Amino acid sequence: MDAAAWDEKYAKADLVWGAPPNAVVVEIVTVLHPGRALDLACGEGRNAIWLATRGWEVSAIDFSQVAIDKARTVASKSPRSVRNRIDWATGDILTTTFDGSFELIVVAYLHLPKDERRQVLRKAVDALAEAGVLIVLGHDTTNIADGVGGPQDPDILFTPEDVVADIEDEAQILAAEKRERHVEAGTAIDALVVAARPVKESAAPLDEPGLDD
Ligand SMILES: C[S@@+](CC[C@H](N)C(=O)[O-])C[C@H]1O[C@@H](n2cnc3c(N)ncnc32)[C@H](O)[C@@H]1O
Repeated sequence: MDAAAWDEKYAKADLVWGAPPNAVVVEIVTVLHPGRALDLACGEGRNAIWLATRGWEVSAIDFSQVAIDKARTVASKSPRSVRNRIDWATGDILTTTFDGSFELIVVAYLHLPKDERRQVLRKAVDALAEAGVLIVLGHDTTNIADGVGGPQDPDILFTPEDVVADIEDEAQILAAEKRERHVEAGTAIDALVVAARPVKESAAPLDEPGLDD
């Protein structure tokens, strides 16, 4: 779907994804120390707003102007300290560049063709600070046959293994698994990967005594 199609979808409903943050995002982020976070394809901002309430300085981007406008409206009801911690941007994540200083990047339910997914995820790893954490969550490929809801085009779905293959040469994989999500219509199957940017080993200081000293 292009930005215009997403705009249309967001214009038709109140909050398409609801206001509460995603439960898996909450589970993973709760144990992290707040820093700078990037929410890629943030939609109406449910995760970005929750992150800001937890003390994260959040950059949130989506190419749907309607979604970003709705996110700003929802955020405007939050305390000023929370609102001020979120920087909303309208833009295409395929062409936008990000600096490499985020302690957390969330990519939730972004479904792109394989090559574009790989491009975005590798860019996300590059945008992490050392030891920064990337969360990739979406509808698993098996959800079409075994789950409920979500896109029905297998070309834009993924498995944890697909995501691992996209980034494992650049990132340390902390978790790669399927997750069940219970919704009104039944049980949906999600793919989850949590990865971290490795910490570079620093060279020994020049004046450090050697073994012979
Ligand atoms: C299923 S929604 C998920 C929204 C949000 N991450 C969440 O979990 O609530 C997918 C989002 O991806 C956005 N999107 C898709 N392709 C994009 C792109 N190339 N650049 C920026 N946003 C994109 C859409 O506008 C949409 O808001």
